Amino acid sequence: MTTRFMILPTRRSRNFVLLLMLIQIMFGLLHSVQDWQTISEEENLEMERQLKVINKPPIKSFKTDYGDILDCIDVYKQHAFDHPLLKDHKVQMEPKNIPKSMMEGKFPRLLPKNIKCPPGSVLIRRTTKEDLVMAKKMKALGLNHRPSFHLRTTNGVAKSFATVHYGKHNFGAKTRMNVWTPSTLPSQSSMAGIWIANGPREDLNIIEAGWGVFRFLFSDNRTRLLSYWTGDGHKTTGCYNYLCPGFVQVHREISLGLVLDHISVYNGAQSDIEIGILRDGEWWLKYFNQFIGYWPQKLFFYMYGGANNVVWGGSVLSPANQPSPPMGSGHFPKDGLQNKAAYFKDTQIWNEVNLIYPEPNQLVPSSDRSDCYEAKLTPGVAPNPMDFYYGGPGQCAL
Ligand SMILES: *[C@@H]1O[C@H](CO)[C@@H](O)[C@H](O)[C@H]1NC(C)=O
Repeated sequence: MTTRFMILPTRRSRNFVLLLMLIQIMFGLLHSVQDWQTISEEENLEMERQLKVINKPPIKSFKTDYGDILDCIDVYKQHAFDHPLLKDHKVQMEPKNIPKSMMEGKFPRLLPKNIKCPPGSVLIRRTTKEDLVMAKKMKALGLNHRPSFHLRTTNGVAKSFATVHYGKHNFGAKTRMNVWTPSTLPSQSSMAGIWIANGPREDLNIIEAGWGVFRFLFSDNRTRLLSYWTGDGHKTTGCYNYLCPGFVQVHREISLGLVLDHISVYNGAQSDIEIGILRDGEWWLKYFNQFIGYWPQKLFFYMYGGANNVVWGGSVLSPANQPSPPMGSGHFPKDGLQNKAAYFKDTQIWNEVNLIYPEPNQLVPSSDRSDCYEAKLTPGVAPNPMDFYYGGPGQCAL
């Protein structure tokens, strides 16, 4: 009895010391996390759990010069297939009916040649805890689902756009756009790209792709390859890049979220990317002559018959009390086009068989704050009927 009584406290005190040490370590970790963002222990554990779901066990990993970690994930085990609608989805490694001629040629590499996943796996930028913290912050600002191009203020964060709209039937579109790095504050974003959309406003189906300095997701101010989708007007489905299940990655060398490090120079050399969103059974994302992956048709109830809207342009997000960031090159089209303003060129509509030029009278430029940002059409080099220019300095109270 006595012996037992003697032993127990000893064990207890040993355990107690261990426990204290553990608490100290945990507190230390939490404390260092809290240094850069205020998150509770509970939120931290929840984020750890989310990261385990989003980031599947890699076959191989790489680290880029920008500190991004790129994982090679078994194509069949990627996060996309956690989506309930994609449980029995049959992966397609490339489009079936898109002409092979559209896949010919070379593409400018985003990464060193040695960064390539083994066959059977795909390259996916690893989501970090910092990304989730940013996404959470965005949610707190009422931006968990980004307001579509025709919506405005949410919880003190305002949005502004300058776009060209095409309101005719299509199965996607492609374009060539110059790439910029608009300067932003940590609470702002400035992006540009193509939107394909269809359906009633409250349930709008949207697929977007382009470039952006998107500081609600990435904490740095680099220009990155960006995509977004929603199947219900931003209510419950959709997200950026790989943050939620949806986008099926098939490429072994190009990942969404990669840094675009060739940036156009004002009054100097222009750096372009080619982007397409083209339906061929599924909604494929084309980058130059490469198909990065696709958004399965199943995610878009209102797009089985194609879409009735294409929008090209730029958008910015900014707290209403800060001067809004620049869009595009930071210069208005009216202040000079050649090598000065942001553009979309060689723009074509995909009709599921061919790429066709949009009828110029179906293209409508607009902006919600023409004193800060504008969009403009100009005749292109034949046979391309129109080039689109957009952008502006911002610095407005939105
Ligand atoms: C991006 O951030 C870096 C480091 O904070 C800064 O030096 C640079 O000027 C920023 N660039 C732009 C375009 O805002």
